[in-house]
Amino acid sequence: MDIFIPPKNISRICCIGAGYVGGPTMAVIADNCPEITVTVVDINKDRIESWNSENLKQLPVYEPGLENIIEKTRGKNLFFSTNVHEEIGLADIIFLCVNTPTKINGFGAGKASDLRWIEICAKEISTHAKGSTIIVEKSTVPVKTAEILKDILNTRLDEKSFTVLSNPEFLAEGSAINDLQNPDRVLIGGEDEASIEILSNIYTKWVDKPKIIKTNVWSSELSKLSANAFLAQRISSINSISAICEKTGANIQEVSKSIGSDNRVGHKFLKSGPGFGGSCFQKDLLSLIYLCEFYNLPEVSKYWEGVIQINNWQKKRISRLILEKLFGTLNGKKIAILGFAFKANTNDTRESPSICVCKDLIEEGAELYIHDPKVKATQIDKELTDEQYKKNESKRWHFCENIDLALQDCSAALIMTEWEEYTKIDWSEKEGLMLKPSWLFDARLVANINNLKKTNINYWRLGNKIIANKGTNY
Ligand code: UDX
Ligand code: UDX
Repeated sequence: MDIFIPPKNISRICCIGAGYVGGPTMAVIADNCPEITVTVVDINKDRIESWNSENLKQLPVYEPGLENIIEKTRGKNLFFSTNVHEEIGLADIIFLCVNTPTKINGFGAGKASDLRWIEICAKEISTHAKGSTIIVEKSTVPVKTAEILKDILNTRLDEKSFTVLSNPEFLAEGSAINDLQNPDRVLIGGEDEASIEILSNIYTKWVDKPKIIKTNVWSSELSKLSANAFLAQRISSINSISAICEKTGANIQEVSKSIGSDNRVGHKFLKSGPGFGGSCFQKDLLSLIYLCEFYNLPEVSKYWEGVIQINNWQKKRISRLILEKLFGTLNGKKIAILGFAFKANTNDTRESPSICVCKDLIEEGAELYIHDPKVKATQIDKELTDEQYKKNESKRWHFCENIDLALQDCSAALIMTEWEEYTKIDWSEKEGLMLKPSWLFDARLVANINNLKKTNINYWRLGNKIIANKGTNY
């Protein structure tokens, strides 16, 4: 099966995985390529039902601009279905957008990516595909995954042929639609030039040609892991400096602005915060570390491990600081948590720094009142109720529909996500709801500082000196 003759006409695309990546990516492709029928399939029936829901507020993924595109394309050339086998059989191109989490058990546990879903999909494709099919790896995968895919796909000797391309996603949640519509670059890695051209022609419907980078398959896979590692590294770098700012009286925003003003460095990704979250950074760093270990490059793996260590330390130092400022005990104290999503403008909570900080605070005896404009209570429950926390006899966190309910009688409020509505909070108005002395811990630097100065609330802003208001000696 060495010679691959690509399909002549691309009229049908199938995407396996209707998650944060598959859903928005296919919506944008369908919107820009009305002549192609795009079907997103998933084994999760509930998820597909939500994508098909009449009420666009029920879509399983919240992304600014997504509802609009779904409204325009769904039922015309964009479909969501659980008929995985049938859609595989009809497709000229199949995108793999399934999850590739970090392995929990066995060799490489805690670092290597779990490729079981990729393997299952490859087997399904090899059984149900017909004729020539282009397989596109969209999920972030370890380097050399395309090889595994090819091996599985090419085990069948009947009239089928496949080629595997790597086309990693670079969308960031919360700005996914804009990132997809105006990408900095589209990366396509592969061996079969004709297939690369076919995929490239789909993107050129809305992306300028020079932005399409064509590489070999390994460069493409490694570029994705490295790109995320570099971005994560910038966050750990600035977060490490935030701690020095707090000790010395420097201001992290001023330092960040000064560093970013150097054109060689640039301003993006220099916002200090509670640590990076999201489904990709930690997983991809771990995958890179595993790769280094596999190829016996211990110095390189230690270098990248440092990025994760700083990230974990940043989360821990926030909960430790809260404990210290609330007189060393949180027992029975009510703390308002403002924001549970890993960043603003998404309902995604995967690896959110809020999870780790909330668990630490619960462990210290605090009662948490959590508000988030987009994350549902059931999702927070899933994240906070793992094996270790089941042992808590009574649930020590509560979901609040509005900010006031969270702040009522709290000893401290903690801003964990940079939602716009938190920037608008009038603290002089809210002060009366909180107990005295009260604290605001702002891990995202979004609270209105001039407004806070008018109150008696003590406040800590990440990477700044602590302000103990009105004579309280901290
Ligand atoms: C995932 C990874 O997290 C990311 O690293 C990768 O780049 C792309 O895939 P995401 O879309 O955010 O991103 O994952 P998720 O929201 O979990 O969606 C994956 C979907 O695949 C789930 O809905 C799951 O049900 C589905 N799936 C998984 C299948 O349909 N079939 C399978 O065999 C396995
Ligand atoms: C990331 C990559 O940006 C994207 O290219 C890739 O395809 C998937 O992974 P995502 O995880 O959705 O996207 O969001 P991103 O905006 O990168 O933020 C990740 C985390 O870093 C968030 O927790 C965010 O709050 C944090 N962050 C980001 C900072 O703390 N400071 C910053 O300056 C930027």
